[in-house]
Amino acid sequence: MSEQEEMRRRYRDFPDRDKWVNEAFFGLSQVAPLLEKIAGGGRVLEVGSGTGILLNIISRRYPQLRIEGIEPVGEGFQIVDAYHRALPPSLKLHKCGYEDFCAEDGRRYQLIFAVNVFEHLHDWRHFLRFAHARLADDGRCVLLFPNYTFPYEPHFSLPIFFGKALTHRLFRRAIERYERAHGCAGYWNSLNFVTYMQVKKACARIGLAHEFDTKILREMLGRMATDAAYRERQKRLSVIAAVVKALYLDLPFNWGVLRNFTPYLKLELRRAEPA
Ligand SMILES: C[S@@+](CC[C@H](N)C(=O)[O-])C[C@H]1O[C@@H](n2cnc3c(N)ncnc32)[C@H](O)[C@@H]1O
Repeated sequence: MSEQEEMRRRYRDFPDRDKWVNEAFFGLSQVAPLLEKIAGGGRVLEVGSGTGILLNIISRRYPQLRIEGIEPVGEGFQIVDAYHRALPPSLKLHKCGYEDFCAEDGRRYQLIFAVNVFEHLHDWRHFLRFAHARLADDGRCVLLFPNYTFPYEPHFSLPIFFGKALTHRLFRRAIERYERAHGCAGYWNSLNFVTYMQVKKACARIGLAHEFDTKILREMLGRMATDAAYRERQKRLSVIAAVVKALYLDLPFNWGVLRNFTPYLKLELRRAEPA
């Protein structure tokens, strides 16, 4: 039985099981190459562990690493609480926001990562400063998140019209209906509509160098074919995504100034200069 099937079985009766298990394996595919490179004893921090499924998988796969997670059960994510009860007690999952996380003895990390968390942070610039302070000199911080310069809100599958406020005014009913149906009051409110251009500026100011991953968009388009739960959530986009993928229309988002408009980002940050 594959690890993914094992997780499906373990969480059989849990709400939105396929979504959360698949998200964990998507996250794994994104961070595994970096985890492989970290020497034994290296420290890893996942920010926004959600259900804790990914944290559990990597703790089992990489016993030689010291792995911790942070999860405050933020606004709109009440559902993940149920999953925590099925986690092994030995798992190092800190139940707080990263803002209240005090790394013991000022420890620094070889890898800090956050999968689909950055767009939910109350103050993402503060988080970048947190990452800068906690990264080891050779450390990496990997962030995966939607870019809100692209006029599409992927959590609610809605077009964006001139920012968060107007979009909310136009789609208030649909947003409220979604939150009621999914038991996730506060989900819309948690979104910060961060853009790649803003992040680039903030990184330069803080002293973080960043690398833009040119493969991620193609991988997200590929997910439409392989991940049924993801396809169902993004079904309004499925035809467009198939056309974009077939005609390689995603490629221009990797070029120069067009990068600013990419729908989804994977950024790898590191200290521009050692501390
Ligand atoms: C979309 S979920 C992603 C969960 C998980 N990374 C995944 O991919 O399944 C976003 C998560 O970010 C968490 N979060 C929100 N604010 C946070 C904060 N200040 N510190 C750490 N995590 C936070 C939420 O509680 C939620 O679990």
